[in-house]
Amino acid sequence: MNEYLPGLAGVPATQSNISDIDGENGILFYRGYPIEELAEHSSFEETSRLLLDGRLPTAAELADFTSQLKENRRIKFHTRGMMKNLPASGHPMEMLQTVVASLGMFYPGSDCLTGSDACEDLDYIHNTTVKIMARMPCIVAMWEHIRNGYDPIEPRMDLSYAENFLYMLTGKEPDPLLARIMDVCLILHAEHTINASTFAVLVNASTLANPYTVIAAAIGALSGPLHGGANQRVLGMLEEIGTPDKVEEYVDSKLANKEVIWGMGHREYKTKDPRATILQGLMDKFMAARGGDLNPMFEVAKRVEAVCEDRLAKKGVYANVDFYSGLLYSEMGIPADQFTTIFAIARSAGWLAHWREQLSDNRIFRPTQVYTGEPRRSYVPISKR
Ligand code: COA
Repeated sequence: MNEYLPGLAGVPATQSNISDIDGENGILFYRGYPIEELAEHSSFEETSRLLLDGRLPTAAELADFTSQLKENRRIKFHTRGMMKNLPASGHPMEMLQTVVASLGMFYPGSDCLTGSDACEDLDYIHNTTVKIMARMPCIVAMWEHIRNGYDPIEPRMDLSYAENFLYMLTGKEPDPLLARIMDVCLILHAEHTINASTFAVLVNASTLANPYTVIAAAIGALSGPLHGGANQRVLGMLEEIGTPDKVEEYVDSKLANKEVIWGMGHREYKTKDPRATILQGLMDKFMAARGGDLNPMFEVAKRVEAVCEDRLAKKGVYANVDFYSGLLYSEMGIPADQFTTIFAIARSAGWLAHWREQLSDNRIFRPTQVYTGEPRRSYVPISKR
């Protein structure tokens, strides 16, 4: 096949049994389980283990995994020293990519990554997965303090993954409802079939590069505005609109100018993104719990969604996962430029599941190209040009 399809749109890049999207009906499955059931009953720790192993863990396996994630929260002081020397003005995604890549220099690889055979060292794969997943939220939270000139807050071993992240980030005991919302946000962002960053995982994994490099490459791909980052723009848009009575005029003028409304539409879903429905439910719960004491942007967001549904539903364009997540993160005291790092923390589970799957049946990626350059010609000496 020599037909060139820009962006490889619709071209299968792998066979995978990790997740699946039914775009017509708006359903996302992790290992066959609908995302709604996981968001209702599971935790990020349990969902990660499901993504990694292909089955729900037993109580003992989950307890073991949870304590391994806790034991790996401490960050070496050399890493901390390196972070203190990074420019505070850098984007948190650039910091995260740099620090995750550097971990490969601290933790040795495995013989299983030096040969051309499929990797069978499952202990190495599991231990490295735990190291990366446990450290990423700590690195992100530490950066928030370091870039503002303070010492980072030490991790707590009595808190869950989501709770400890919020605690290290804000220094406050996390509100139980907000911590549960963060837990669900991590579940919802943990995996989403083959997209640009997951494809970066496959390509890098296929060369048997060390796993820290593999995840750093994925973080780099996610950092681009066409992939992660829409939720940061949603928040900016809501602030620009300001009050609910301005929504209609704002949306109509954007649509008249053929501009996009951030947080609306998704290439894979022709109905509402199921993750947005779950987040909307959590937001309603949060709004009810807060009563009158609420950021006015919540009312603006509800109005934007209603107006967009009226104008865009006929085109199959509805709210996506990014529409509500940024608003909820800002309510947790998280700065907007850290929203994509949260996406990366959550997606580390899916990325590492794909890393493992790639190694289990590996062949180095070597696509072809359609050459569009000059035909054969002869070298012209510089004096004759
Ligand atoms: N705002 C306004 N109009 C939108 C829209 C949006 N967010 N998303 C799609 N549309 C319109 C398109 O302009 C097109 O209109 P037309 O038929 O009159 O030309 C129609 O809906 C169909 O959209 P299409 O171009 O087929 O969608 P797509 O699959 O190419 O694009 C996105 C999907 C995600 C790139 C697009 O919806 C978008 O840019 N959304 C905003 C960014 C965002 O929130 N990204 C995060 C995704 S998780």
